[in-house]
Amino acid sequence: MSQAKATVHKAVMVSEAMEALQPRAGGRYLDATLGGGTHSMELLKLSAPDGCVLSLDVDPIALSRAEQQNVYGKRWQIVESNFSHLKEVAEKSGWMPFDGILFDLGLSSDELADPSKGLSFQIDGPLDMRLGPKANDDGLTAATIVNSWSEHELTEFIRAYGEEKFAARIARAIVERRRQKPILSTLDLANLIKASVPNLHTVIHPATRTFQALRIAVNDELAVLKSALDQADEILAPNGTIAVISFHSLEDRIVKQTFKKFVGYQISKKPIRPNQAETKTNPRARSAKLRAAHKNATKQTNLCHGRTRLL
Ligand SMILES: C[S@@+](CC[C@H](N)C(=O)[O-])C[C@H]1O[C@@H](n2cnc3c(N)ncnc32)[C@H](O)[C@@H]1O
Repeated sequence: MSQAKATVHKAVMVSEAMEALQPRAGGRYLDATLGGGTHSMELLKLSAPDGCVLSLDVDPIALSRAEQQNVYGKRWQIVESNFSHLKEVAEKSGWMPFDGILFDLGLSSDELADPSKGLSFQIDGPLDMRLGPKANDDGLTAATIVNSWSEHELTEFIRAYGEEKFAARIARAIVERRRQKPILSTLDLANLIKASVPNLHTVIHPATRTFQALRIAVNDELAVLKSALDQADEILAPNGTIAVISFHSLEDRIVKQTFKKFVGYQISKKPIRPNQAETKTNPRARSAKLRAAHKNATKQTNLCHGRTRLL
């Protein structure tokens, strides 16, 4: 295995996530988004000497970095998988059911800084945006979307996934430009977007929302999140907790609505926010929201005929 560079990713809301998950010796935990490994390793430390952690990621670099850092032996299983297959991977681990499941959504700073992933509008790279080879099933890339979807489709998804008010203008500019030559690089697209919208002198780059929309579409992030949360409910032990850290309103809405449908849970009404010290030192934390769902010790599950059954 090649040497992976040390992570530059600063994990968000680590103590709040641990507070929600309450790791303990002998407990079994699933980290669906390994990334730089900080949350996983904190779970391992707090569940010593015999707690277990199963960590998933779609990014092979994150996985190889964690393998190199594994001083926990068999207590840490590190698996390349999309969390769309959460239940299957959990069953294969031999550690079912889990006492805590964590999702820290989105991408890591390592991925953002990797030009080959094409995720940043500040670093030139190919317009790809897949977080890893298993990030989607159909091989869809940002270049395919930008160069082949209709103007209407582009407008719709940039508006829906980027919450971008200039979606129509951006879509028009993309279609006009690609008639001359395909748009293949991140900076090419970022500059084109910048030139197509009014200069509002805002702090955020004019391409921010379109890049977010593309990443969500390429990795099918919203559908995958919804499915993974439903699977998390199935593999969680009574008295266990699902904790999710999200970074934008589309993700947070899905978490909130999916938790609401869970039966036999206690759900915190308001999301937990990072403290001021963290938002000062880690700009990524500013938009973070943590929601937790705690399964009752005796969970009631709805059966299809409207009856309930005690587990
Ligand atoms: C914000 S980072 C996680 C950081 C991590 N909690 C830490 O302590 O450093 C999100 C990670 O989730 C991974 N990821 C995103 N979507 C995924 C999916 N559908 N399945 C598995 N991993 C995913 C990304 O590749 C990235 O490494």
